[in-house]
Amino acid sequence: MNIIKSLLFVLFSFSTISLTAADNQTEKSNRIVVNADLGTETISKFIYGHFAEHLGHCIYGGIYVGEDSDIPNTRGIRNDVVAALKEIAPSVVRWPGGCFADTYHWKDGIGPQAARPSIVNTNWGGVTEDNSFGTHEFLDFCELIGAEPYICANVGSGTVQEAAEWVEYVNSNASSPMTELRKKNGREKPWNVKYWAVGNESWGCGGNMTPDYYTDLYKRFSTYMRGRGLYRVASGGTDPDFEWTETVLRKTQKFRNLIQGYSFHYYTFCHGWDDKTAATQFNENDWFYTMKNTLVMEERLERHIALMDEYDPENRIGLIADEWGNWFTVEPGTNPGFLYQQNTVRDAVTAALYLNIFNNHAKRVKMANIAQFVNVLQAMILTKDDQMVKTPTFYVFKMYKVHHDATLLPINLTCDDYSYDGMTLPSISASASQAKDGAIHVSLCNIDMHNNRSVEIDLRGSDNLSKTSGEIVTAPKENDYNDFGQPEKVNIQKFTKFSVKNNILKVDLPAKSVVTITLNK
Ligand code: AHR
Repeated sequence: MNIIKSLLFVLFSFSTISLTAADNQTEKSNRIVVNADLGTETISKFIYGHFAEHLGHCIYGGIYVGEDSDIPNTRGIRNDVVAALKEIAPSVVRWPGGCFADTYHWKDGIGPQAARPSIVNTNWGGVTEDNSFGTHEFLDFCELIGAEPYICANVGSGTVQEAAEWVEYVNSNASSPMTELRKKNGREKPWNVKYWAVGNESWGCGGNMTPDYYTDLYKRFSTYMRGRGLYRVASGGTDPDFEWTETVLRKTQKFRNLIQGYSFHYYTFCHGWDDKTAATQFNENDWFYTMKNTLVMEERLERHIALMDEYDPENRIGLIADEWGNWFTVEPGTNPGFLYQQNTVRDAVTAALYLNIFNNHAKRVKMANIAQFVNVLQAMILTKDDQMVKTPTFYVFKMYKVHHDATLLPINLTCDDYSYDGMTLPSISASASQAKDGAIHVSLCNIDMHNNRSVEIDLRGSDNLSKTSGEIVTAPKENDYNDFGQPEKVNIQKFTKFSVKNNILKVDLPAKSVVTITLNK
């Protein structure tokens, strides 16, 4: 009897051991399947777009210093900023606003600079705007950095004729008064600007309109903003006003030739619009809420996409996230109307979260423009007189260049939680793509401020991949940033904490980091 008991015990113990071992094999808390053979959508490079508004020192001082400046420049445009921006291959730049766009009369910004009238920038700090940076200067800047221009027309305080003439001035080759005016101002050939927004935030600073009123205006403006191949973008409602979205989509249904894009803005405020924290002084509570509020973007996008799928099942209208990013309090001692903030590891991590979300919704998201390019909100570049720094967000954009116009690879992700004070968030975000040369790029981000994650990635359906390299953006402290006159604390470093065997990629993903792994045959 005792022998039987002993045998049963041994048997039971073995089965328990083998069950536990089997469980451990299948129980991978951080697991991603990259479906390498199921890619059908292209991640538009315009998802990696930018926004330059006449706001604070974005344009003046940041991009444009004028030809007489001691700061080295090309026709007034800073050489150091141009060289830096080229490193991230900026695909498209939205201009002149923002709220500024609906106060901007483009004819104030053409012709000899000395003869251009000054206006007051009533949205941003009440400063005098001398209009020295106008249409020609903006399009010159786009040519210098190799980006497509995206112009926002004034619907709030402008006229249909003004918008129509702007398109004609910029794009027409026919003999016409606007073409002649452009040539007189020194530009022989048209620029052929494809992307045009019809107003900005028309629910608010762009005219405080109702969705019905705006949609009627939209149809009027876009009827006369003519030209072959023009891509016209309607203003979205305030977040999360889905009724606005539905109204615009429904009322333009019979006018599909007039609308190519629908705009949507979303900002991360740490604890809400009225409770923004400082960009560099924050605790884990602030960090957690910044991540949480950034992840809301996914839900917002998906609800917009559901409506667009209903009203535009052919997927002809692109979702254009033409303002996004972190909005913190301004740096001490700076003009509150200039929205100047520093940029830390926290910004790098949320930039990666946003970009992964956009990548993974590339079927509908055709453009996104981070706010803003230089010296404003979540900027790529900060300048102080003749000095310049590249921000952590800049380095994420540089690292993610590999996804421009690549084929999106669908992923399935399961991960454990990042827990804080009884709340949880998924700790990992990811996106993957295949470049035209066949290389696969997997981008990962660990939002946990303290803990590393071991991640196993099944590169399913891919050829045997053996050549690999990795890059990481992180820093020892979550609020590390790059400052003027100091060595950089946050930039792209080589990353080696991974291995690949039989198309299984194992990554030891550090806390608060953004990583991209490149895999080749
Ligand atoms: O990016 C700053 C401002 O935020 C823009 O001018 C406006 O469109 C938005 O509310």
